[in-house]
Amino acid sequence: MRLAVLKERRAFETRVSATPETVKKLIGLGLTVAVESGAGQGASISDADYEAAGAEIVHDSATALHDAQIVFAVQAPDLQERAQIMRGAMLVCTANAFADPELIPSLAQSGIDTVAMEMLPRITRAQSMDVLSSQANLAGYRAVIEGAGAFERGFPMMMTAAGTIPPARVFVIGAGVAGLQAIATARRLGAIVSATDVRPAAKEEIRSLGGTYVGVDDEESAAQKGAYAKEMSDAFRQKQADLMTTTIAKNDLVICTALVMGRKAPVIVTAAMVEGMKAGSVIVDIAAEAGGNCALTEPGSSIVTPNGVRILGWSNWPGRIAVAASNLYARNLLTFLTTFWNKETGAPVLPESDDIVKGVLLTRGGAVVHPQFLPSQAA
Ligand SMILES: NC(=O)c1ccc[n+]([C@@H]2O[C@H](COP(=O)([O-])OP(=O)(O)OC[C@H]3O[C@@H](n4cnc5c(N)ncnc54)[C@H](O)[C@@H]3O)[C@@H](O)[C@H]2O)c1
Repeated sequence: MRLAVLKERRAFETRVSATPETVKKLIGLGLTVAVESGAGQGASISDADYEAAGAEIVHDSATALHDAQIVFAVQAPDLQERAQIMRGAMLVCTANAFADPELIPSLAQSGIDTVAMEMLPRITRAQSMDVLSSQANLAGYRAVIEGAGAFERGFPMMMTAAGTIPPARVFVIGAGVAGLQAIATARRLGAIVSATDVRPAAKEEIRSLGGTYVGVDDEESAAQKGAYAKEMSDAFRQKQADLMTTTIAKNDLVICTALVMGRKAPVIVTAAMVEGMKAGSVIVDIAAEAGGNCALTEPGSSIVTPNGVRILGWSNWPGRIAVAASNLYARNLLTFLTTFWNKETGAPVLPESDDIVKGVLLTRGGAVVHPQFLPSQAA
């Protein structure tokens, strides 16, 4: 059985879905692995590295996909690549299914069985394949590093013969996987850190990392249950806005990580709040790809506002730490495949009754099978 590793073609994508380490293990399962030439370039992996691990290097996607029954990718393949994938093949990628409503029916029509790794349920058994967590963790780290680079003062308090430099004040919005890593990273660099979230469980997590919790505690936030936050009401948003105005004005860096699965990111930092910040302050918006938590974020770029606040709104934060992100992403995919690998047949088996399969399988046998994407669910 042949597995193809595609070169990523989307803007800002530097990651790759298999590494020499995982290629060796895939070959160990009995697979032949074809890697598209240059696939690892953004993550500092050469064709020779893949060849040494036992992969076959091919020069275009059509050759990689010819006869491939399994396809690994980071992002969903483009139209041209999808046309090259053979009917009945299993595609494992981050489909970003909610952002691209046309994609799922098109994959079904092409007869591709689609596994969308971002749809994994947040259950213990799925943790080692959880691409959202592995990538968010690195994004949260990178956000602080880039924020610190853009901030023209130090993070720790420094007492020198020439005087004292005060510590930076960092405020993290959203204390999920990325936010918690951002808190830990900013603390390690010596900043004074506070954070907010709408999930009550986040309060203790923020404190356990040495951050101060700032938030609206009302019935609505107390009712937040489960691994993902729900969209908040207008009344909650108003209370949150009042608190944010005073909090943000006191901070030097704001790291935005608040997301609501399948929705546009909530806008929490308004233009007026940015105006209230000191010149030289920095906002790092890793929610930019989902629209951003800051009203002034320009997704995909960095800007400086008239009052001197720098807003970093890059797309694809995990892609800015491509080596580590590829290593973890590739291991997540390998774990998924080995979990569902049937040693006797030498092929993957995805049972419909399995909770992980129910979560990730979007299309199968030419039809959309995921309840959230059935044609009847279309708006
Ligand atoms: N296997 C597992 O059990 C598992 C795996 C991964 C994550 N988790 C948990 O799931 C939770 C969410 O993780 P995530 O990082 O994927 O979340 P996420 O990326 O969906 O969102 C990031 C954070 O933003 C917060 N947020 C959303 N709207 C907000 C608003 N209006 N104001 C302030 N904050 C807001 C969310 O509550 C979340 O904590 C975390 O507690 C995490 O530990 C569990």
